[in-house]
Amino acid sequence: MAAQRDLIGIFDSGVGGLSIAAAIRTLLPQESLLYLADQAHFPYGGRDEEEVRELALHAAEFLTGEGAKLVVVACNTASSVALGALRASFPVPFVGVVPGVKPGSAATQGGSVGVLATEATFHTRVFNDLVAQFAEGAQLCTLVRPDLVACVERGTVEGDAVEADLRDAVEQFAAAGVDTIVLGCTHYSFLATAIRRLAGPAVTVIDTAAPVARQVRRVLEERGLLAEGEGLGSLRLCTTGDRDTFLRVARKLWPEGAPTAP
Ligand code: DGL
Repeated sequence: MAAQRDLIGIFDSGVGGLSIAAAIRTLLPQESLLYLADQAHFPYGGRDEEEVRELALHAAEFLTGEGAKLVVVACNTASSVALGALRASFPVPFVGVVPGVKPGSAATQGGSVGVLATEATFHTRVFNDLVAQFAEGAQLCTLVRPDLVACVERGTVEGDAVEADLRDAVEQFAAAGVDTIVLGCTHYSFLATAIRRLAGPAVTVIDTAAPVARQVRRVLEERGLLAEGEGLGSLRLCTTGDRDTFLRVARKLWPEGAPTAP
């Protein structure tokens, strides 16, 4: 018998997408969430498009097989590469996340926007189309920092090493005259507070976790798929990697105030 479709499935290469899971949990506490961290294949950011597409299709297969009524691709890399293929392959709606080039270009005063994302994301047609469509006239400064993504993946979001790496990234943006920084990889959401502090109040930092959660609510509403009732939905976390390590990091990163810690 086919599984009943009553979950929101969410996946990323690792823990980054937990930022989106927590935003969904806060906005839609009655929904049951199933999160998959594809840590056996982390990071996605240095892989070629074909590999990322295959991995994304596998993740979606798992989530829909477990009863996902909607799948959130909580990874800018996988969304930029594979959203089209995913939508063509499964009978459920998909919500993805792409670097906030549009809000970033709208927010900049001086015309210079910094984007932190993966190598793979920057190469995609989706990203380059976003730039052509929304960043006309803006100066884009792109930065790839897999070291910082790896720190977050280990649960290290503070301390001297991260601070030094972040300072270096922020200084590169400052040297390019950037006044708006787009967090174009979900792992960076967990560094947003530190980035804001280091960049200072004159720099706007764009994080897309909350807008993605609102888009999930819109899509569920439009399709009549919102969970009914008042109770808190379940929260299940899975990984293709080491379960204990994943849960330890997930507990550490889960934001205070988001209902039910993992
Ligand atoms: N969290 C993923 C993203 O949003 C990337 C991390 C990775 O390189 O796997 O792009």
